[in-house]
Amino acid sequence: MRDRRSTRLAIRAAVLSYDDNPCATDPAACVRYESDGLVLVADGSITYAGPFAADRVPAGAEFHEYRDALLTAGFIDAHVHYAQTPVIGACGMQLLEWLETYVFPIEQRYENLEFSRTMARLFFAQELAAGVTTTVSYCTVHPVSVDAYFEEAARLGVRAGAGKVLMDRNAPAMLCDTVQRGYDESKRLIARWHGRDRLFYAVTPRFAPTSTPAQLEAAGALFAESSGVYMQTHLAETRAEVEWVRELFPDSEDYLDVYDRAGLVGARCLFGHAIHLSSRQWHRLRQAGAAVVHCPSSNFFLGSGLFDLRGALSADTPVRTALGSDVGAGTSFSPLVTLSEAYKVAALRGETLMAHAAFYLATLGSAHALYLDDRIGRVAPGYDADFAVLDLAANVLLRERLRFAGSLEETLYVLMTLGDQSCIRATYVAGRRVYDRDNPGV
Ligand code: GUN
Ligand code: ZN
Repeated sequence: MRDRRSTRLAIRAAVLSYDDNPCATDPAACVRYESDGLVLVADGSITYAGPFAADRVPAGAEFHEYRDALLTAGFIDAHVHYAQTPVIGACGMQLLEWLETYVFPIEQRYENLEFSRTMARLFFAQELAAGVTTTVSYCTVHPVSVDAYFEEAARLGVRAGAGKVLMDRNAPAMLCDTVQRGYDESKRLIARWHGRDRLFYAVTPRFAPTSTPAQLEAAGALFAESSGVYMQTHLAETRAEVEWVRELFPDSEDYLDVYDRAGLVGARCLFGHAIHLSSRQWHRLRQAGAAVVHCPSSNFFLGSGLFDLRGALSADTPVRTALGSDVGAGTSFSPLVTLSEAYKVAALRGETLMAHAAFYLATLGSAHALYLDDRIGRVAPGYDADFAVLDLAANVLLRERLRFAGSLEETLYVLMTLGDQSCIRATYVAGRRVYDRDNPGV
């Protein structure tokens, strides 16, 4: 991987960061904002974040200054399918038909390492251009698809999790493994990648319908015996899928119980979507310290349903909650776009997503869901120097509209409503500027 210990770095910009969940405590106490801020970085970590003062800039430090810009912690995309980048926007169907028609055919191409590498490069370039500095992705059933993803993440210095998809039924034969093969291949991949650089492995049964109970059990055993790894899968995304799971697993109490019986519900378990859940399942997720990942643009695109974000983030019944693009069912890599979709999901539920809650969700909230909130998600000393720099004058409408914004909260609302990838001026991972919109090739 590249040497990420850059020279010492100083960045001057407006700086936004969160110390806590603004839905669970007084928002004013959670938000840190410096209209003229300074961030100092050494060896990939933040050493200072606070008001700018010229005499605080160390002699010899590289100095980056951004005007009309807002620096935040790098965004986190906690649920995405890098392998589906080539089918983003393939429309017209609900989940199960969409999987058969678009997803399974493209995923077969990832048996080829070179194809996987090409798509991994495209994927990470898109994520960085969107201000995303941590990704948690599904690969395909092929181990080389995982190698390609982690190789590229390591080359860039990005913090990244992923796993080989496990499927041993209800999918094309070319995309199926077996209980033993899936276990063995995943184990080898864990040995090769987990804990290397900033990388972590996630045991990845795609979802209950495409794994036999025996495969889920094997996934649970692997998860239990592999220290520090994650588990990711899909949960209750659509009503038809919930019904199918009921038929396939008649002895289980509900969808989550299918995973629970296999030892797949606990800390570091990530459940994508989690829309059609009973209060029992919410309670069990909370009690187990598991996380759900809200993927609103995907949920709109496939017509899956309206996730209960307010319930998940509330002070009374909090569940670790992250944000995901879910590309290729998701329609954008940009967390700003994803947040505006989250706002609309809440609106359709008769609720309001506060802008501070939205930006918290895309940064510290997702880090908390991943049990990484001591390393990423904040602009604070000791944290990894992962940043997104948002351009408040990215286009005429944004610039002029923001002249009328009367508060930080309004500015953030406008950013997530009008903003997209083009608003990302620069992205840093571990103190290195890996994306510079105005100087491509950096
Ligand atoms: N459920 C099982 N597989 C998938 C997938 O690839 N995308 C989405 N959105 N849901 C799924
Ligand atoms: Zn998904």
